[in-house]
Amino acid sequence: MEKKKKGRILSGMRPTGKMHLGNYVGALENWVVMQGEFENYHLIADYHALTTNPDTSEILENTLEMVADWLAVGINPEKSPIFRQSQIKEHAELHLLFSMLITTARLERNPTLKEQVKDLNMESLVYGHLGYPVLQAADILLYKGNVVPVGEDQAPHVEITREIARKFNATYGEVFPIPKTKLTTFARLPGLDGNKMSKSVGNTILLSDEEEEIKKKIRKAITDPQKIRRGDPGRPEICLVYTYHQRFNSTETEEIFKNCKSGALGCVDCKMKCASAIADAISPFTEKQRYYSQHFGEVLDVLKDGEQRAGAVAADTMKEVRDVMSLG
Ligand code: TRP
Repeated sequence: MEKKKKGRILSGMRPTGKMHLGNYVGALENWVVMQGEFENYHLIADYHALTTNPDTSEILENTLEMVADWLAVGINPEKSPIFRQSQIKEHAELHLLFSMLITTARLERNPTLKEQVKDLNMESLVYGHLGYPVLQAADILLYKGNVVPVGEDQAPHVEITREIARKFNATYGEVFPIPKTKLTTFARLPGLDGNKMSKSVGNTILLSDEEEEIKKKIRKAITDPQKIRRGDPGRPEICLVYTYHQRFNSTETEEIFKNCKSGALGCVDCKMKCASAIADAISPFTEKQRYYSQHFGEVLDVLKDGEQRAGAVAADTMKEVRDVMSLG
């Protein structure tokens, strides 16, 4: 018999296209582990993507590329439905009802929004962007998610979700659980330039990169600026490449630390070891990755199936919502 599951997890990501190592270490790896313990729902936040870019011409392709990588790393769509927010109309419906239960002042206080405004140099916001966390609350609560695995930047959104759930339950009747945030515990994997790994910055290693490509990229990665040539003692504790070794090459890290410190190991050799270790770490995914990226039709079928199953759950919740609100 199937083990009793501990609850429901709702995880989501905007459709950003091919996945990189940061996505893997920060999220996907976790999702794969959790699918045995919990009932998982994997949402593609394609409406959320429109809050910062209304251009829809690449959304489908980005979605398929992303999902091909999810499948390659081991997300099992039979256990855990994968679905697009935009294909289940209840997301829009619940978002509207929730938008009556939170003030604009509360949404303007959202620290993640403030940071985005600063980072993207935005002069003003579209209305939907202010409501970003309200849509996210609908995503989570439609499936009665108990646990939401997110990075730190998303924690304020789960807090808003909790507030909306409490407010709804107090106003109309108990429908929703109060979900918990599960913060990803490991430090974020930095990109090749030492900043946050991100597609828009162009400092990523992709899960679909071949070993040669990884080598080329790692060759350009920053290292200890004081170690100029082999023989110079290095400081692995501040070196980006050493961080990658720690994560992807644990059996050799001790030796690399020692030999970098003493100067015996030069940066070029160290980088090549690192590139091979990364290539080895992602090699179990390569075959499936290639397969799915050449069979987008099958990826789309996975989505359609997930949308049917998730849609049934969403419809049930929405019926309950309408009943307690006397909107039946
Ligand atoms: N806002 C999330 C992000 O940018 C994506 C997201 C949308 C999400 N809906 C969600 C995450 C529901 C968790 C649960 O990363």
